[in-house]
Amino acid sequence: MAIEYTLAMVKPDAVGKGSTWHIIQDMASSGLKPVAVRMTRLSKEQAKIFYAVHTGKKFFEGLTDFMSSGPIMALVLEGENAIHKYRDLMGATDSKKAAPGTLRQKFGTDVSQNAVHGSDSPENVRREAGFFFSGTELAILGLNIDAIGASAPATAPTAPAAPGAPATPAKH
Ligand code: CMP
Repeated sequence: MAIEYTLAMVKPDAVGKGSTWHIIQDMASSGLKPVAVRMTRLSKEQAKIFYAVHTGKKFFEGLTDFMSSGPIMALVLEGENAIHKYRDLMGATDSKKAAPGTLRQKFGTDVSQNAVHGSDSPENVRREAGFFFSGTELAILGLNIDAIGASAPATAPTAPAAPGAPATPAKH
């Protein structure tokens, strides 16, 4: 099976509770390897842009308030069938309904404070990874932004385009 990438986020509730490293352990145990990691805090405007697809829904204001309420961690995960594998690991959106052993059941509280986010399609992996990481940063890590939203053959990553180039700051 081809190696795939997905974009994961540890949300402010889980970061605040100190669950980040337990969540990363569960990712690794599921065969999902973090290959790019950033800890940051979203502004309200950035949260609105990230979740723009939900604009106008009744939970949009609460969602963007929550997502800008504290630090988050964004990760690019690599693994076989990574998008579906990580969504299975996360569990149902509502932590109260998530199956035992899933990240949302173990570390979240309800549908609003549900500990983690994961991309739902290759197109959104590319968009969401590009939100948190510049093309240069990904290239330095041996990742190709154009390959991130598509299944890539299970080969070693290509060398950085500009070895030794300084990392660029976050785009947001
Ligand atoms: P996430 O996977 O990050 O994508 C959109 C988020 O909206 C979702 O997780 C939930 O945390 C949040 N949300 C808040 N209220 C609702 C709701 N009523 N239905 C669906 N998602 C909700």
